[in-house]
Amino acid sequence: MNGHPWPLFDLRLRTPHLELRLPNDDELLELARVARAGIVDAERTVFLMPWHKLPSPAFERQFLLHWWAERGRWSPTAWSLVLAVTKDGRPIGLQEIIGREFAIRRVVSSGSWLGREFQGQGLGTEARGAMLALAFDGLGADAAESGYIEGNAASARVSEKLGYRVTGDEVFAIEGKRELEIKVRCTRESWQRELVPVRIEGLEPCLKLFGIGKLSPEEWTTF
Ligand SMILES: CC(C)(COP(=O)(O)OP(=O)(O)OC[C@H]1O[C@@H](n2cnc3c(N)ncnc32)[C@H](O)[C@@H]1OP(=O)(O)O)[C@@H](O)C(=O)NCCC(=O)NCCS
Repeated sequence: MNGHPWPLFDLRLRTPHLELRLPNDDELLELARVARAGIVDAERTVFLMPWHKLPSPAFERQFLLHWWAERGRWSPTAWSLVLAVTKDGRPIGLQEIIGREFAIRRVVSSGSWLGREFQGQGLGTEARGAMLALAFDGLGADAAESGYIEGNAASARVSEKLGYRVTGDEVFAIEGKRELEIKVRCTRESWQRELVPVRIEGLEPCLKLFGIGKLSPEEWTTF
């Protein structure tokens, strides 16, 4: 066999200032440190689950377990690719892209965050732009869906800039409070692809793992 048996380790998304790739365990722990150093003020709600507020070291343990589990649950019909957003070789945040029955639906969803010190410099736009290039150019998606809690101006603006449009909302109870999630959708047509130049490397050997093309029994057999 040529290349890594889990070819996603060789996948790279490059933007002018960032490289997105699968994190190794040391980088995952570094990402836990970045998150612990702060993502948003404690009184703000930006996540459906307040995972970033757990005490240490429960926080670090759950962080590692969560992302190990996400990777370990991979199947070509239900996958979640969790990429470290790195700048100058250092992880500064996470960009996730999720596909459910992608081969049939051609829709992805996503989530992301950057450590606070890295926010507000255009890097979140680059990370999401890289994800959209993977979705539309790399995987042939028709649409990318996302959402943000009402009042999350940075996330709303990143979505708007890249071509997402508001499609609806959903009410959640988060930490005993009523929160409204605004749902947004970007289509291949509305995508502002020129905003973020993206280079994708190492995708071809990964395509079948995303459900694109048929895996032979030698390539994918489960117990
Ligand atoms: C959301 C997030 C990933 C965006 O990344 P970022 O690097 O901060 O975003 P960028 O700098 O690329 O772009 C932010 C845009 O929002 C705008 N913005 C930021 N705060 C704003 C505010 N309070 N009011 C109005 N606009 C605001 C910026 O001006 C910029 O728009 P512009 O390029 O037109 O000037 C990042 O802020 C983050 O990690 N936030 C906390 C976690 C989070 O909310 N994750 C998303 C959950 S849905």
